[in-house]
Amino acid sequence: MRVGILGSGLMGGKLGTIFARAGHEVVFSYARSMEKLKKLARSVHGKGHGSARAGTPREAAKEADALLLAVHWSRIEEVLSQTGDLSGKVVVTCSLPMNDDDTELVVAHTSSGAEELARMIPFARVVSAFNTVPSEVLFGVYEAKRKATRPSLVYCGDDESGKAVAAELIRDVGFDPLDAGPLRIARYTEPLALLVAELAYEGEGGPELAYRFEWFRK
Ligand SMILES: NC(=O)c1ccc[n+]([C@@H]2O[C@H](COP(=O)([O-])OP(=O)(O)OC[C@H]3O[C@@H](n4cnc5c(N)ncnc54)[C@H](OP(=O)(O)O)[C@@H]3O)[C@@H](O)[C@H]2O)c1
Repeated sequence: MRVGILGSGLMGGKLGTIFARAGHEVVFSYARSMEKLKKLARSVHGKGHGSARAGTPREAAKEADALLLAVHWSRIEEVLSQTGDLSGKVVVTCSLPMNDDDTELVVAHTSSGAEELARMIPFARVVSAFNTVPSEVLFGVYEAKRKATRPSLVYCGDDESGKAVAAELIRDVGFDPLDAGPLRIARYTEPLALLVAELAYEGEGGPELAYRFEWFRK
């Protein structure tokens, strides 16, 4: 599928690279320099069956089957002002609603970043995904894709067809997608992301951390 990346930093740069290696057509957009975006796109070539190029947010959104929104919370409105109309688009957001120094969620309990985003683009199909794992683990998960047991990745959203698109991308990265329900469940997944970050960055094991939910059915 065609995947537009809005924000090509730690998350967007790595996920976009993996999507392209997994066979998708990726457009990297929204970094402080176009040269960085071009370099990212060049680094993908020859490493899979997909393709990658650099573009503007508008170009990334045009004809995209899915968009990955991966910018700091403070930049969301600016990016959205550059994409053009996103009505009907699947927007997968990994962005967490953090304050400027990334120490606290500025939206929580009674709403979530994902729900606030959906209010900003009411005709888009917003799915919250990829925010509960650190960027450092993404290539490792992709490389371990063929192992029997995959790590889980929770996602949520109100539009079933948008969620199916997100689940395909989640699977392509190497995770086992776990549908957590409607978009309001992001009220729980976003704080979970902070727990994972705490374990990844403050714990002893390092940031290459993913998780797995298991049911012990009789
Ligand atoms: N990093 C993680 O492990 C992680 C995990 C879960 C969720 N998240 C969430 O995912 C989102 C993205 O995080 P990240 O770590 O990928 O952030 P990041 O590395 O800072 O990437 C953000 C992207 O936005 C671009 N950008 C920032 N300011 C800009 C400006 N003024 N003009 C144009 N481009 C600008 C950056 O450009 P440059 O490339 O030029 O810097 C970069 O490409 C955040 O909401 C974060 O909370 C992150």
